[in-house]
Amino acid sequence: MSDLQKRLAGEAAALRVEAGMVVGLGTGSTAAWFVKALAERKLAGLRCVPTSEKTADLARELGLPLSTLDDTPRIDLTVDGADEVGPGLALIKGGGAALLREKLVWEASARCIVIADEAKVVPVLGAFALPIEVVAFGHKTTANRIADVLMDHDIGMPARLRQADRGVVRTDGGNVIYDALCQAIHDPVRLADDLKLITGVVEHGLFLDLADEAIIGTDDGVRAILP
Ligand code: A5P
Repeated sequence: MSDLQKRLAGEAAALRVEAGMVVGLGTGSTAAWFVKALAERKLAGLRCVPTSEKTADLARELGLPLSTLDDTPRIDLTVDGADEVGPGLALIKGGGAALLREKLVWEASARCIVIADEAKVVPVLGAFALPIEVVAFGHKTTANRIADVLMDHDIGMPARLRQADRGVVRTDGGNVIYDALCQAIHDPVRLADDLKLITGVVEHGLFLDLADEAIIGTDDGVRAILP
């Protein structure tokens, strides 16, 4: 993990934003570099839709004009980080527990750029535990159903309820997160479909066919990857 690489990727992505755009602001340490670089550009007529309360706080602090998905349902460009960037720009996201709002904003965007440091680029998704957002009511029952689906995908480890120092992690929407250590996800499309069919699963961190471009920070600058 390199903070310099994250910063370079965030700064390069900020140069893609034009005055008057509606911009989706991602969540996480890499996206925070983008938000800072964007604020420094002082572009006229921007409206920004944050993907988490944390990003909203940062953007507000930096003086970026905020909007909501309901007030600006057509987003020109979203820039966000990822936990893994796989072949075809298939992604794992949600390490920061913002996957649901992130996916809502990504899906409303004409263009999505993922920004990351080099270590995030992987040949196969799954070394990073896949975040699955689950309704708090009956979440242990839902977790059993998730375990069945994972078994069906040859993933023997049950997903683990995400905890932090202050107890069970709650998302901005009040849900809980289960992290599924898959090791290798051989069929992300089928896994994504199967997880979404479970009642109680709100969203998962597989972002498939959503990224239009990746900007990867390296020690020598940035490089772009297309799907
Ligand atoms: C937030 O929920 C995530 O999707 C982040 O975008 C992801 O975890 C990447 O975070 P970093 O940029 O902090 O590595």
